[in-house]
Amino acid sequence: MQIVSTVEALRKIIKSKKSEGKSIGFVPTMGFLHEGHLSLIKRAKAENDFVVVSVFVNPTQFGPNEDLSVYPRDLERDTELSEKSGADLIFHPTVEVMYPEGSKTTVNVTDITEKLCGASRPGHFQGVTTVVTKLFNIVSPHRAYFGEKDAQQLAVIQKMVEDLNMDIEVVPCPIVREKDGLAMSSRNVNLTEEDRKAALVLSKSLMAAKEMIEQGEKKVDVIYETVKSVIESENKVEIDYIEIVDGVTLEAIDEIEGKVLIALAAKVGKVRLIDNIIIGGQKCC
Ligand code: PAJ
Repeated sequence: MQIVSTVEALRKIIKSKKSEGKSIGFVPTMGFLHEGHLSLIKRAKAENDFVVVSVFVNPTQFGPNEDLSVYPRDLERDTELSEKSGADLIFHPTVEVMYPEGSKTTVNVTDITEKLCGASRPGHFQGVTTVVTKLFNIVSPHRAYFGEKDAQQLAVIQKMVEDLNMDIEVVPCPIVREKDGLAMSSRNVNLTEEDRKAALVLSKSLMAAKEMIEQGEKKVDVIYETVKSVIESENKVEIDYIEIVDGVTLEAIDEIEGKVLIALAAKVGKVRLIDNIIIGGQKCC
């Protein structure tokens, strides 16, 4: 397993793999890997000859009062887990490599970045699209793997790839959950035991919504009230947003029809968690 930290070294390896006719799969991460990340790596390995995992805690996607300084890191563990899951190389650049002094260019997707997480985390998606564009240009993969856990991020990346004619196939991967329903997240380690228990209302509220829809409920405001009341049954959880929107455009809807995204964000103790469910469209998770 190679760990590479410069752009030049990585490009040389990718060029040689491509000259051998090998396909390149790419899994961008911020590290502290869990089964959710590993499912992306395994999928990438199944569909490509050579798999690159990036581990880079991207400072530009964190707001000034967010958790950059306490974001968990463990490269040794990440390397071991990536290798076991089929990765061939870890790209682990420093902040200086990714953002040399004098950088003046950013990538910005409008509109769909302004809703949901974009409304409470101004600048977040610009940080994501800029770093993902840079990583795409450095790795130049055939396919890139993103989790539906970050449903808005996935929609934003898909729009960016389409709008900027990037020759990369974006592959969406389903959310991996703990046995009790909590969506896996690197941030879960920052939850106290009590907060972790409280956080279960998030996935429970989404399951309640799914059940209602399966039983024929179509009114978004009725479903919204149920999701809200399940979360509010736990007073340690502070809702940031609950949104029931079109699964592609992220536009507000009144009735359940076609692919629908129910997405939420909440603060549990000091940790901001997100979760969602996609209903209709290709699948329901
Ligand atoms: P990070 O939060 O480390 O997530 C990396 C990838 O793993 C994302 O595509 C995310 O959706 C996916 N993922 C996380 N938890 C998951 C789960 N429980 N099930 C399935 N997939 C899961 O997302 C980022 O990093 C960054 O914004 C990044 C794209 C790397 C840009 O910095």
